[in-house]
Amino acid sequence: MSCPPVVDAYYLKEIERARRDLRALIYSKQCAPIMLRLAWHDAGTYDAKTKTGGPNGSIRNEEECKRDENKGFEKAIEFCGEVMAKHPKITYADLYQLAGVVAVEVTGGPTIDFVPGRKDSLVSPNKGLLPDARKGVRHLKDIFYRMGLSDKDIVALSGGHTLGKAHNERSGFDGEWTEDPMKFDNTYFKELLKNKSNGLLKLPTDKALTEDLTFLCYVKLYADEEETFFKDYAASHKKLSELGFRSSVLPTKLAGVNTTVLALVAVAVIVAAAVVLLSYFYHSH
Ligand code: HEM
Repeated sequence: MSCPPVVDAYYLKEIERARRDLRALIYSKQCAPIMLRLAWHDAGTYDAKTKTGGPNGSIRNEEECKRDENKGFEKAIEFCGEVMAKHPKITYADLYQLAGVVAVEVTGGPTIDFVPGRKDSLVSPNKGLLPDARKGVRHLKDIFYRMGLSDKDIVALSGGHTLGKAHNERSGFDGEWTEDPMKFDNTYFKELLKNKSNGLLKLPTDKALTEDLTFLCYVKLYADEEETFFKDYAASHKKLSELGFRSSVLPTKLAGVNTTVLALVAVAVIVAAAVVLLSYFYHSH
């Protein structure tokens, strides 16, 4: 595990520049869904007990990226590489999570608070830590509880399937969850509550959200109130993107203070200390 990046004023500026580049890239390549999935698969390996895995950029390791559960990420990693080439100071872990946040934003979803400072790791977690789409309620809970996430997080985050599609050659599933897979809204939940499939996809794990009472309450709430879904989604996504991460960002005001001002303050403190010491010696002799 490498050291965490120093999140100073320069780092924060680079993050904002990378955010702008990601916005343009995701828009021009129309790759929001795979970027969101990349961020989720980098973060979703977290184990709250052993404090391993999580959003640490390890998904770029060839071995991890080539796993069955990660099929299709090569392009997304290549696109992120283009942004990284322009902003090499920032970590891959931050870049991938920023890409997820931007993907939601550019498709019309909520603004998600992004705190930078994640460190990169070249150690890949074990296989099989991400959910298996063929399984049901118990499995979903086991996987997300292991990350330290709740039932509410499970339902809100599953709303990510409002974007994109399944590809037979990647997962063995095929199709889209909603009529407009490039728009982030609450139609995933509306479709989930319909009895007819309308030719849209429902994975066994999507269906599981209607088979557990706690899950179902949230599904109904989010289908009825898009605003509540957006609010809860933004909170759960932030949690997911910060699993195992403690921010080391300097308070914004301090980070923004220019180093000359800090140097002047330091000189003033030294001079004041010298005056106090001299006057002490003067009076005691
Ligand atoms: C709850 C457990 C989950 C399971 C079992 C699951 C499973 C899957 C599967 C099988 C696919 C199809 C992959 C393919 O064939 O290309 C997929 C796609 C996708 N997933 Fe999930 N997922 C889950 C949760 C999430 C979460 C939490 C997010 C984001 C917050 C997410 C975002 C996406 C997106 C955006 C796609 C579309 C990717 C594309 O269009 O290329 N998923 N997911």
